[in-house]
Amino acid sequence: MHPADIGRVRRFFRFALELTMTNIVSRLFPTATNMIRLDHTHVLSTFHQYKASAPARVKKGLVNTICTALEIHAQLEEEIFYPEMRKVCEDERITKALDEHSEMRRLVGLLRTMEPEARDYDETLQTLMRDVMHHVADEETILLPAAEKLLEDKLGDLGAQMTKRRLQLAGPRSGEIALDMGRAASGNTAAIAMVGLAAAGLLLARRSGHRRWHARA
Ligand SMILES: [Fe+2]
Ligand SMILES: [Fe+2]
Repeated sequence: MHPADIGRVRRFFRFALELTMTNIVSRLFPTATNMIRLDHTHVLSTFHQYKASAPARVKKGLVNTICTALEIHAQLEEEIFYPEMRKVCEDERITKALDEHSEMRRLVGLLRTMEPEARDYDETLQTLMRDVMHHVADEETILLPAAEKLLEDKLGDLGAQMTKRRLQLAGPRSGEIALDMGRAASGNTAAIAMVGLAAAGLLLARRSGHRRWHARA
């Protein structure tokens, strides 16, 4: 074979390998908009498991799981997704979303100070979730479709950034998250299986955090 042909074949294989790597990476990390939808689904499905008549331990586990998921989700949107949206869409929508995050954080803070036996515990959670549902509806019917039109090429990269940031935020809180999920899952076989999967994910996050730390040291 002519040396020029060998070079072409090598370049083709290098290109094919890079393409495969890109496909693998894009399959590993959901796009930013899909990740946001998945987070919303997770919070809402956790809320759907909440019953006022459940044992205090289960209620506390579910509420803490919702609160932590909302805190991390809001931070990812504020640090990565919203700033990118600000560049391509009216500020008013983002400002409204940020105001809603502030109110959500106030209610999360309040719930964290309360005991499940408190008279207004259920009501405070319901107020939080009513606000979250309105906020999620606006994001899923306005902001996310706008992002998919205006940021189409960047959504994969933003999703990867959000995944990395999530690992940084969740890693140091992995013990607390696993404990809350364990409480929430008490007596629920399907939920216990989910806790096992989540714990594996947290372990991965923790290891990844350690590797980063050692790499820097
Ligand atoms: Fe959201
Ligand atoms: Fe949001």
